[in-house]
Amino acid sequence: MRDSHAGGLPMAGGAGGLGPNAGLDGSVILVTGASSGLGQQLARSLVACGARPVLAARRLERLEALRAELDGRAEVVECDVTDESHRGRLLETLLARHGRIDGLVNNAGMGGDGPALRSSLDTFARVIDLNLVAPYALSCLAAEHMRGGGGRSIVNVSSVMGLRSIGEIADAAYVASKAGLIGLTRELASQWGRYEIRVNAVAPGFFASEMTAGLGDHADAFPQWLTDQIPLGRGGRPGELDAAILYLLGPSSSFVTGSVLSVDGGMAVR
Ligand SMILES: NC(=O)c1ccc[n+]([C@@H]2O[C@H](COP(=O)([O-])OP(=O)(O)OC[C@H]3O[C@@H](n4cnc5c(N)ncnc54)[C@H](OP(=O)(O)O)[C@@H]3O)[C@@H](O)[C@H]2O)c1
Repeated sequence: MRDSHAGGLPMAGGAGGLGPNAGLDGSVILVTGASSGLGQQLARSLVACGARPVLAARRLERLEALRAELDGRAEVVECDVTDESHRGRLLETLLARHGRIDGLVNNAGMGGDGPALRSSLDTFARVIDLNLVAPYALSCLAAEHMRGGGGRSIVNVSSVMGLRSIGEIADAAYVASKAGLIGLTRELASQWGRYEIRVNAVAPGFFASEMTAGLGDHADAFPQWLTDQIPLGRGGRPGELDAAILYLLGPSSSFVTGSVLSVDGGMAVR
């Protein structure tokens, strides 16, 4: 996208083919929730594309370990994205180091604690705070520095559960937050097109991570009641979400905004 950068790490699994051609060479991309799961995997693919990811989460030791794995080709910032002062410090740190922000991936998220009648209002509010309020606040902070720059992109990580309910996984807070994130994506895309800021969402299906640990530690080992609801008959494998996010961040999607890209093996349609 901007100044070139040698890159050189081997391609991360699943993002094959995009590589340096993703158009993200030298791009400064903030990724929240990068200390595990999908965010950690995305960090690997961004580095493989020559981007300069800035990785945020609360567990600094996990971020430091990832930075070491990536040969130092990422910055890390300890941050609780639900804390306003942390969010401000995160943007300040990023801008002090890089002078600009080209992309934001709102990936940090959590689930609730079960069926509505057995769940607390406090849990509902905490899930909304992390999954919806924080992406909104961070998007506004980032947009202040993105506008007018051209080619800037925000990607919100929603969920297939923002598009449909799953009887076996009752979670009103999570579903409301992820559906809300899709509405937010649409509205910010509408408001910020004039600033040349694109805003899109991905809606992943099921991938193995800390969040889905109860379903098994590998996508091919997910329970049958789940895979029966997925037309491709399996969960997502490491890296299979990355190509979609790289596409939405980069110039290949220059005329795409306000969209939701499902990466779920077809689960949303069944
Ligand atoms: N895995 C799936 O099947 C799936 C499907 C659909 C959507 N998603 C979405 O994908 C995103 C990533 O999920 P995942 O599966 O990779 O789950 P995960 O492994 O549990 O990762 C969640 C990440 O969010 C971070 N986080 C949590 N609270 C935070 C806070 N207050 N401030 C900053 N960071 C915080 C965690 O880091 P710290 O604990 O270090 O802060 C962690 O890095 C989530 O938005 C999730 O809803 C996942």
